[in-house]
Amino acid sequence: MQTIVKPKPFVKWAGGKRQIVDILIKEVPPEFNTYIEPFVGGGALLFELLPKKAIINDVNSELINAYLVIKNFPELLIKSLKKHKNEEEYYYKIRALDPNKLSPVERASRFIYLNKTCFNGLYRENSNGQFNVPFGKYKTPKIVDEENIKIVSEYLNTADITIFNSDYKEVCKLAKKGDFVYLDPPYHPLSKTSSFTKYTKYDFTEKDQKELAEIFKELDRKGCYVILSNSNTEFIKSLYKDYEIKEILANRAINSKAEGRKKAKIEVLIKNF
Ligand SMILES: C[S@@+](CC[C@H](N)C(=O)[O-])C[C@H]1O[C@@H](n2cnc3c(N)ncnc32)[C@H](O)[C@@H]1O
Repeated sequence: MQTIVKPKPFVKWAGGKRQIVDILIKEVPPEFNTYIEPFVGGGALLFELLPKKAIINDVNSELINAYLVIKNFPELLIKSLKKHKNEEEYYYKIRALDPNKLSPVERASRFIYLNKTCFNGLYRENSNGQFNVPFGKYKTPKIVDEENIKIVSEYLNTADITIFNSDYKEVCKLAKKGDFVYLDPPYHPLSKTSSFTKYTKYDFTEKDQKELAEIFKELDRKGCYVILSNSNTEFIKSLYKDYEIKEILANRAINSKAEGRKKAKIEVLIKNF
């Protein structure tokens, strides 16, 4: 069956690339073997590109469980999502549940529900790995996007997509000559207090950014096409000074203050081809 409507990210994700996907797509190599996205998050580029063969990964277990449930049990997930209520007391009851004690479907349903109804749609965990974002008080959040779940599911089943929940380094080891690797790690903070880097209890530090730059170079040596997104800071530009660096206009990261939403050249794309 031909899919007419394109899939789109099924969660709102901090650092999600939907608003710059039109810029990204123009940078994609015209031909490649496997598409590899080691920090997939909401998968904005994956769903725009719709590669026939891909490896996707994220360290966030809740997110990856949701991908797997959408792939394998979309109808059960839709049924479960329909039971949720956009009410404050109910929200905190669901938030308090331990995801490890839920079935995969209930766990994905809780995760998507919290993402749609929490403040700013920002996934954040405390040092114990618990989701700790307050209720968002939205009037009509779209808790169940039935059509999109079905379309995402169809895509994940018709294309050859391998899904991992691992550290990005493990997945980068799988890349071969001719593969296209899109690296979208947590941003290097623009200022000490501004940016969001903690998607899970594990932070992504400057040491991690340096290790990632080494892996970028390794992928380059292997003959992969590599694109990396990051924030436009001197530190990041110095790590990739031997490569083409494009400064791009983007809205600031999820930020409730209007001032924080102005467009600025706050992001870079780094390419090896
Ligand atoms: C900037 S977001 C990616 C956004 C994505 N491109 C999108 O459009 O939604 C970075 C992602 O990296 C993941 N992450 C953080 N540390 C990681 C690690 N060590 N290995 C793999 N994924 C990691 C986070 O969970 C987060 O989903």
